Amino acid sequence: MRANFGTQYRLTIFGESHGEAIGVVIDGVPAGTPIDEQAIARDMARRAPGSDPAATSRKEPDAVRIMSGVMDGRATGAPICGMIMNTNTRSGDYAQLRTRMRPGHADYAGHVKYSGYNDPRGGGHFSGRLTAPLVFAGSVARQMLAARGITIGAHIAQIAGCSDRALDPVHMDAQTLLALQESRFPLLDPSLEGEMRARIAAAKAEGDSVGGVIECAAVGVPAGIGSPFFGSVESVVSQLAFSVPAVKAVAFGDGMDIAALRGSEANDPMRMTDGGVSCTSNHNGGVTGGITNGMPVVFRAAIKPTPSIAREQQTINLETGENTTLSVTGRHDPCIVLRAVPVIESVLAIALCELMADDCSLYPHRHTP
Ligand SMILES: Cc1cc2nc3c(=O)[nH]c(=O)nc-3n(C[C@H](O)[C@H](O)[C@H](O)COP(=O)(O)O)c2cc1C
Repeated sequence: MRANFGTQYRLTIFGESHGEAIGVVIDGVPAGTPIDEQAIARDMARRAPGSDPAATSRKEPDAVRIMSGVMDGRATGAPICGMIMNTNTRSGDYAQLRTRMRPGHADYAGHVKYSGYNDPRGGGHFSGRLTAPLVFAGSVARQMLAARGITIGAHIAQIAGCSDRALDPVHMDAQTLLALQESRFPLLDPSLEGEMRARIAAAKAEGDSVGGVIECAAVGVPAGIGSPFFGSVESVVSQLAFSVPAVKAVAFGDGMDIAALRGSEANDPMRMTDGGVSCTSNHNGGVTGGITNGMPVVFRAAIKPTPSIAREQQTINLETGENTTLSVTGRHDPCIVLRAVPVIESVLAIALCELMADDCSLYPHRHTP
């Protein structure tokens, strides 16, 4: 199992959905960095289950207990360990899943990989619950970035085929992104909330689930961040985004659509403005050559429909070796997208901290040999 990420802003996540606790150890936060625990609590609350009818009814406060690395509101330089206790488990809901594998979930692949020793309760280490520690690490990262004028935000770009308008990739401002963070249901066009909720509710009523797309962006990112080849901005963000359960596609700028454009349409014309350099379009999502070019960094992540559904589906019984059917009971998100918004923001924050530290632009007092 590979539960660690990064060489500069280093994370190790741990825990299982129905174990004692989940958490993360963060290494690489410079001593003296202010850590705002109220801001962390706000970010955690946006991902926590049980607060919205479109999400699972499992209620968890997701309060982070900082076990080490922070004193008097500042990082000490030692590893920061954040723990979140699991307080509302109902492992009985998962009894049938020890033998009957959920289609679309990690049950079968995980069983093979770990010879059946993995914890199946609530999805174990494969649970979406493991994204809570990621949001904690993202919140700390976000605070370090904010001190350098970088703001991250995201919105629901689509749910069940109902699409919000896109962020303006050229004239995006920090205020727009901060306002999205304040919203219970982050949309650029709030009039769409009713229709999106109706589509989630309709699927749920039929024992089904829906997916969608999250659009995420960062403004204030200076040009020159990223370490090609393998530390390109796209590859580091994508590695983290694809680590989030249920993410099945990641795309920067125009993404797949850029393939249908001509060069004259896909190129972002460059201008000198107020002594700086900017582009009049942003089809490349603020990244060229794997390096930020000073434009807003913009990417999208596609979230699949929740695999655990009440509707009967074909599957296998590993105990009897027979084909069977499965209707998943228990508490599940009929749509993951809403709760995944702060997770995807966290992915971008963690990636930028890792990349900027690599470039020594996050920790200017550090020197590479
Ligand atoms: C915030 C969040 C919540 C999730 N909630 C559920 C859930 O309630 N039920 C479920 O079956 N999957 C849920 N998932 C998705 C599964 O964990 C994921 O689909 C599964 O591990 C298989 O991995 P894959 O979809 O990446 O292939 C959630 C994911 C996230 C990010």
